[in-house]
Amino acid sequence: MGKFVIEGGRQLYGEIKIQGAKNAVLPLFAAAVLTEEKIVLKNVPHLADVENMLKILNTLGVETKFEKDTVQLCASVMRSDTIPCSLAKELRSSVFLLGSVLGRIKRARVAYPGGCDIGLRPIDIHIKGLRDLGVKVEEKEGFILCEGSECKGGNVCLDYPSVGATENVILASVLGNNKTIVQNAAREPEITELVRFLNTMGAKISGEGSSVLRIEGVEKLHGAEFTVMPDRIVFGTYLLSLCLTGGEITFLYAKEGDVGALLSKLDKNSCKICREHGKINVIVKERAKNCESVTTQPYPGFPTDLQAPYMTYAAVSEGTCILTENIFENRFRHVPELQKTGANIVVRDRVAIISGVPYLTGAEVTARDLRGGASLVLAGLCARGITVVQDIYHIDRGYENMEETLSKVGARIARL
Ligand code: UD1
Repeated sequence: MGKFVIEGGRQLYGEIKIQGAKNAVLPLFAAAVLTEEKIVLKNVPHLADVENMLKILNTLGVETKFEKDTVQLCASVMRSDTIPCSLAKELRSSVFLLGSVLGRIKRARVAYPGGCDIGLRPIDIHIKGLRDLGVKVEEKEGFILCEGSECKGGNVCLDYPSVGATENVILASVLGNNKTIVQNAAREPEITELVRFLNTMGAKISGEGSSVLRIEGVEKLHGAEFTVMPDRIVFGTYLLSLCLTGGEITFLYAKEGDVGALLSKLDKNSCKICREHGKINVIVKERAKNCESVTTQPYPGFPTDLQAPYMTYAAVSEGTCILTENIFENRFRHVPELQKTGANIVVRDRVAIISGVPYLTGAEVTARDLRGGASLVLAGLCARGITVVQDIYHIDRGYENMEETLSKVGARIARL
């Protein structure tokens, strides 16, 4: 399964180029199904989730080529309308294919999606959204069967601004002679990225970045070349690493605006941020004196994906911090592991109360999910002694060569 061995206590100095965003690139892959022409995506991270999504696309008949950081996709022929169970359970994002396969060939069969074990992750909002568009949806023997020949567009009001459901409704409604309005749409930057990409392919979508999207169906989409946005969660994770170890890092290809909710919480006295010529330089000289409480919210609120890394930051900051997880109900699985390093955390339902301790101590811990796994690496980087993080395949789902990135800036971390 692989593990990281980390010798803590080293300050970090140097440059980190932020990888392309996993949660943006996967829906862009799904969008590639909507045209017969070639799509070229640059700045694609090498991640297990990316490889799995490409495998799923191959089973549908999409030709794919991944070289360096560029993926070429061509869906000139669609061989199948079915995303098989064995692949869908590896990857929750396969659920977006429902919208895009439907958009392309007016029918789709998707097995119930998998992904991180961070809660129930139902897909009722996706299904309701598709039904509102006029799609017939049936759930049968572990599959969701969709028939979209009578898809008529119209008004879709999502009960909750679900990222995945917003993406699915967009993907299902860009082709055709329909007008669709999506209300209470998610506003995550990855949605904006999808909208921009589809518009580059010839779609007519307006309202990007807002909670109301207007989609005017078009007859055809064409090929396009596009560079994937930087991963805001990866940026936030490495920024928090620096806050924990101290040092100075220049972040390249990072977007400050996308992590505004995190930046507003960091202790301004210990963490100095300067922007220069498109780079973000951060200097951390001392341990945070206080750690603000956080409640996870849909964007632009504090992202659930940074809750676990932020918990490690809180664990060694002075004072007490209250972390409330509002998005996923099973997202504290890193807590017992962090406690092994000496973190003082009490969990009551969806609330974690963290009382800062002066230092953490190396321990053997196990990653239970992607972001929780990252929080354990952060603990290892600042802990006294050696930390071993087991089951790092979870971390590989979202961070490209994490050990290389961190070693280059001076961390002692090895993959065994
Ligand atoms: C996406 C991201 C994930 C991130 C999350 C929140 C991808 C691949 N994943 O996940 O990394 O943590 O957004 O920013 O982009 N819900 C329902 N019914 C539904 C859909 C969602 O009840 O049909 C609930 C979920 O259980 C959860 C909340 O809505 O409590 C948010 O889910 P959603 O925004 O859909 O997240 P994902 O798209 O799964």
